[in-house]
Amino acid sequence: MQTLLLRVWALAFHLTISCVLVSSNIVVQTNYGKVEGFKTDKTILFYGIPYAAPPERWRLPVKPRSWEPYTIHADHLPPGCPQVCDQPPNGCPDTFSEDCLYLNIFTPVNANPTSGFPVMVFIHGGSFVDGGIGARIYDGRFISNMTETVVVTISYRLGALGFAVFGNGIDGNFGFMDQQFALQFIQENIGNFGGDPDKVTLFGQSAGAQSVSLHLVSNSSSHLFHRAIVQSNPFTLPFRKHTSALYLSDYLAAYLGCPLRDVACMRRCTADDIVQAQKKAALKILLDLSNPLQLFEAWGPTVGGDLIPKSPMDAVRLGIFQQKPLIVGSLTEEGRLFVYKAFTSRVSVLKSVEVFLALFRQDTYRVLLRYVPYPGADNRNLLARLLTDYAFTCSTRNITREMVKQSVPVLYSYIFDHAFSFKDAWGKFSFCRGHVCHSSDLPFVFHDATLAGYKYTNYELNLADDMVKYWANFAHSGDPNQQLSNKRDYLTKWLPYTSADKWAYMHFKTPWSKVETDFQESICDFWDQIGYEPIRLC
Ligand SMILES: *[C@@H]1O[C@H](CO)[C@@H](O)[C@H](O)[C@H]1NC(C)=O
Ligand SMILES: *[C@@H]1O[C@H](CO)[C@@H](O)[C@H](O)[C@H]1NC(C)=O
Ligand SMILES: *[C@@H]1O[C@H](CO)[C@@H](O)[C@H](O)[C@H]1NC(C)=O
Repeated sequence: MQTLLLRVWALAFHLTISCVLVSSNIVVQTNYGKVEGFKTDKTILFYGIPYAAPPERWRLPVKPRSWEPYTIHADHLPPGCPQVCDQPPNGCPDTFSEDCLYLNIFTPVNANPTSGFPVMVFIHGGSFVDGGIGARIYDGRFISNMTETVVVTISYRLGALGFAVFGNGIDGNFGFMDQQFALQFIQENIGNFGGDPDKVTLFGQSAGAQSVSLHLVSNSSSHLFHRAIVQSNPFTLPFRKHTSALYLSDYLAAYLGCPLRDVACMRRCTADDIVQAQKKAALKILLDLSNPLQLFEAWGPTVGGDLIPKSPMDAVRLGIFQQKPLIVGSLTEEGRLFVYKAFTSRVSVLKSVEVFLALFRQDTYRVLLRYVPYPGADNRNLLARLLTDYAFTCSTRNITREMVKQSVPVLYSYIFDHAFSFKDAWGKFSFCRGHVCHSSDLPFVFHDATLAGYKYTNYELNLADDMVKYWANFAHSGDPNQQLSNKRDYLTKWLPYTSADKWAYMHFKTPWSKVETDFQESICDFWDQIGYEPIRLC
């Protein structure tokens, strides 16, 4: 009897708690209907707000239909867009659907329509074929909580579904327009969530950084954001133009068993079939055109035209990009993940020379003098170093210098140089353990590794604290050093990159980060002589 009473009491208690939780949830009005966020100890989370209607294949995004009088309970992560996800643990969404145009919002617990917090919008990476905002690593609650910002993560269509070009008005870049659509939704609705639509910072990593750079080039994006952070942009990777994109999509049709450019036929295929066919098409075009760089990003935005007139590399040289405050940086071992994914066993001298020839043709000999393969050694390390320097570090230095010459208002540069201590965080990519592989910065920028059960060392905690503060200070004021008036922490002063001949950058590392100058000067001078676009895609 006593136990029963206890149980009844416990049940009543439980119900009370639930009611308290429910009543403290926050309902926010958007242009299309109400969404109910839920409170955690750190933030209010809104998962899976539709910023567009479920997309029709290879058609422009359109506004969502109003869901009045219903309230969306924004308490589960949205599905990722169709893909074969090949990311480390916590980097993949749990489910997939073509109905994938959603965004997640993280606000401080005290946010209200008068807060006017700066907005930080994150664009995820994944070579324009995988990843998604349902992945655990993109959790904005820590940034939002620590820095009084509203963090938004946005999704966009991927692969052939996001970027195929068939002509006759189907000109690709659907995924890019999805991003613009999400940014437009943010302009119109973020005020009700406590954000300031006139203070939007875009940040993105990898393909997300390429996206951010493309928004800096696209006139139709310019009113949608005010500052930008570009994390690990492989500036050297070529973007397709119309002809080359058509050619790639023709292979898609062929692998789907459809007549070329018969869009109606391809609309009848399953998303799964399309994802499989897009992979085969990517491998096929690689063999055809023999530019090994295409292996890394076969599907993606196309340039040339009103939407994105030029690649960021060309646009910056021509001075046709938006002049906005920027943070731009990369990691010390960016190439390793890609090289070890592409070559599953050791690489001989002969194989190295083959790769160099395919990449550099008449410049191969000069490159070989700088990057010397050794017989008997595993030359994957050499290739990884080359890819890091050529595709990331030095092309980033080159473009950063050009931007400074073109007088961007202010530019802060960084090199991230810390291999995280979390055991198993790389999963099957064990070759990245103890290395500063591509994406190693994410658990520090998001400060969220504890969500996945990892524990920061004390030095790592400082690094994560610092990076979150610099990023958010920049979102608040355009200056990563300018702290919130109620926070006075010790932060090393990050000197801006002011003159094209002296490269000041923040060297992010443990035990502590510091400002240095002229990272890898002589090797980058070498790459500037070779140039970054020896092979262009038509
Ligand atoms: C941050 O989280 C703590 C709990 O960890 C909470 O007490 C505090 O109110 C939160 N601050 C903001 C600005 O959301
Ligand atoms: C973009 O805007 C600039 C400056 O307003 C203008 O010169 C340029 O022609 C525009 N480009 C396109 C493709 O509309
Ligand atoms: C960038 O690289 C190109 C070669 O592709 C070179 O001509 C140019 O001088 C470099 N720019 C800067 C600012 O270093």
